[in-house]
Amino acid sequence: MESQNTKKSIPKKDPKREEDAHIDLALRPSNWEDYIGQEKIKKNLRVILDAALKRAESSDHLLFYGQAGLGKTTLAHLVAKEMGANLKVTSGPTLEKMGDLAAILSNLESGDVLFIDEAHRLNHQIEEVLYPALESRKLHLVIGKGPGARTFSLDLPPFTLIAATTRANLLSGPLRSRFGASFKLDYYTVADIEAILERSAKLLGVAAEPAALNAIAKASRFTPRIANRLLKRARDYAEVNDMPTITEEAARNALEMLEIDELGLEPTDRQLLSIIIEKFNGGPVGIQTLAAALNDDRGIIEDVYEPYLMSIGLLNRTPAGRRVTAEGYKHLGYKISKDGLL
Ligand code: ADE
Repeated sequence: MESQNTKKSIPKKDPKREEDAHIDLALRPSNWEDYIGQEKIKKNLRVILDAALKRAESSDHLLFYGQAGLGKTTLAHLVAKEMGANLKVTSGPTLEKMGDLAAILSNLESGDVLFIDEAHRLNHQIEEVLYPALESRKLHLVIGKGPGARTFSLDLPPFTLIAATTRANLLSGPLRSRFGASFKLDYYTVADIEAILERSAKLLGVAAEPAALNAIAKASRFTPRIANRLLKRARDYAEVNDMPTITEEAARNALEMLEIDELGLEPTDRQLLSIIIEKFNGGPVGIQTLAAALNDDRGIIEDVYEPYLMSIGLLNRTPAGRRVTAEGYKHLGYKISKDGLL
């Protein structure tokens, strides 16, 4: 039996992230109007930003959470731009010592936006420095050790922290409570992804059939970063085959070569499902056992594979562990009998 509050592991870096970083940079919208989708968030953010602008103040601190690749960093850039502010970027894992954060905070200028990516990986000590900075714009520093140690307090200029995380549940309660607003970025609709792909194809200077963009959108896990990566692979395929346009066939062939199926599942996703079916009779199976059977990192399973498999109804997380759904069996081509799963 797996308890609900089992300590969650912190995921390692998603290996695809590095490759995606420069795609993001090239295709990231640099204007608010060009950001497609997440309409509710944009509407709410707009009110917060316009009110802050009207008062000539910094906006409240903001938390963006949701799966990787959904546009949290892009949104942070756009918020800074809309506020006419400088954006300073750092991340949870790079802030190792208190001094690292103190250096960044003490260099902030009035109105700056500080973006901390992967905020769930901030260590406890760093969080302790962050609390008073967020709450009362004070930086408390301890110089020296033991009886001779002295504390200094430095006033900070008005600034806005934007924290992004894939795992809001791993943020400490006190940190979470210091944000004026939290926004959960959801998976995009196919129509939104198609619009993003159309824009990206234009930026890349490549022609693509609407049916090609539709096939890529459907295989994109409803995630712009993945969609853009697949578009680039389809462009490669068309290019080496001397096709001036990415046709539907080119897109489908490129996806097939990448072993990505029509639901966007990769071999690792299918392996995860088939291991649960074959070795654990469809589940329930505990996450630790599953990670060992897959020989993969638990954090990656929880953070990368599972959310999408659950969102499309192929996998369930139950208190007793993971279970493959009837849809999951069907998708992998397993037969289902009248009175249960075979
Ligand atoms: N590229 C990545 N995410 C995007 C978005 N939400 N809108 C437009 N282009 C994007």
